[in-house]
Amino acid sequence: MTRIGIVGLGYVGLTTSVGVAQLGHQVLGYDLDASRVNLLLTSKPPIHEEGLEQSLGRLIKSNALSFTNHLEDLQSFKPEFVFVCVGTPQDESGAADLTILNSAAQEVAPALPAGGIMIIKSTVPVGTCQKIAQSLNRTDLFVASNPEFLREGTAIKDFMEPDRIVVGANSPEVAKKVMSLYDAIDSPKLETSLESSELIKYAANAYLAMRLSFTNDIANLAEATKANVDQVLFGMGLDKRIGNSFLKPGPGWGGSCFPKDTSALVSIAKSYDSRLPLVESAIASNHAALTRSADVIEGLVGGHLANKTVAVWGVTFKANTDDVRDSPSLKIVDILLKRGATVKAFDPIAIAPGRAGLSMASTALEATVGADALAILTEWPEFSEIPPELVAAGMKEPVVYDARRILPESWRSHFSVFKVLGEAAK
Ligand code: UGA
Repeated sequence: MTRIGIVGLGYVGLTTSVGVAQLGHQVLGYDLDASRVNLLLTSKPPIHEEGLEQSLGRLIKSNALSFTNHLEDLQSFKPEFVFVCVGTPQDESGAADLTILNSAAQEVAPALPAGGIMIIKSTVPVGTCQKIAQSLNRTDLFVASNPEFLREGTAIKDFMEPDRIVVGANSPEVAKKVMSLYDAIDSPKLETSLESSELIKYAANAYLAMRLSFTNDIANLAEATKANVDQVLFGMGLDKRIGNSFLKPGPGWGGSCFPKDTSALVSIAKSYDSRLPLVESAIASNHAALTRSADVIEGLVGGHLANKTVAVWGVTFKANTDDVRDSPSLKIVDILLKRGATVKAFDPIAIAPGRAGLSMASTALEATVGADALAILTEWPEFSEIPPELVAAGMKEPVVYDARRILPESWRSHFSVFKVLGEAAK
């Protein structure tokens, strides 16, 4: 059994802890946050993630997985590998802020015995792993890059059944050692240089974000031209070179990764005197998409949001997560509030951080009572189960905007205005 330390127990670190323990390794997760660690020790996940609680319980019980907030515990565990999974947030210039990563690397390096490998899972600008390797001042340690491609909401499944595993290192021996941790997983496996591995992660996220911006722009054009957006995107995706996934239009993309990673990639390119005009355009298109949804809502309530109440369903950045970081829904809510609206929001799991003019309702129906319009901004499946007649009856005006395209056609007859993103008004 290989002993593996995991540093940083957020979405990525926690999923990695569970995933690596499920692969048959002995895992100790380390985080500075004592309350998070204490919660985890009782098998309670601090985040909402499908299957996480059951896996935690099982792995902790079988002693394959444990957690600590004491560095000494990690040191006496003597991990042969340490995965670094701390956050690399966006700084004021748009670049990745590596302060937490650098201090975590320095802090945990002494826990690695000679020959140990520090594996950077955090998303880091090209050249970072090389710099960390130099900064450790230990010729007996190695640094590898092993980016994570999981999606929140399906994180454990994505870890166990990945499209590919990428490991970057300065030598084939180190890359092979890290890759061998994944022997139990049957997927394409790619060993690269540190720099290629670092860039693969950013390139993949930027490409996906670009694709979504394109999708949202086409949805906007379909609306203007009265084309059927579902048919257009389906017909486009049937081309095997394009494919059908990640073509669902929405009010804009968000979350803890795409916005920061696209911005960091643009900033990486600039630092090499290079440009990424397509990624820059994708970011601009996304800002326009968010504003477009706010404009639609404003139009639906008569052109002025002052003194109007908008009910919002969904505040997370997508369904099946409790994550509200960089949520498109909340960005749209902020525009509505700035334009003078009052917002009553409901989300099945998350509570939006406080803002003047925004209140959270305890049920979806409660949010709509007395509202001038209802906007569906996150695609929680349960929203389409709510009886439309009850929604319409309680509203001041029965006006709805479905920015996630999830409401059934049967809703249409209950509303005086039933506007769906990507569809011309009927
Ligand atoms: C994203 C990537 O999909 C993962 O591969 C990557 O590992 C992860 O970032 C990361 O870098 O950690 P995630 O942010 O969890 O994963 O969520 P996605 O499912 O990619 O959704 C991102 C945004 O795009 C959401 O706002 C979502 O609503 C939107 N989206 C996604 C659409 O509007 N349409 C789609 O068809 C897909």
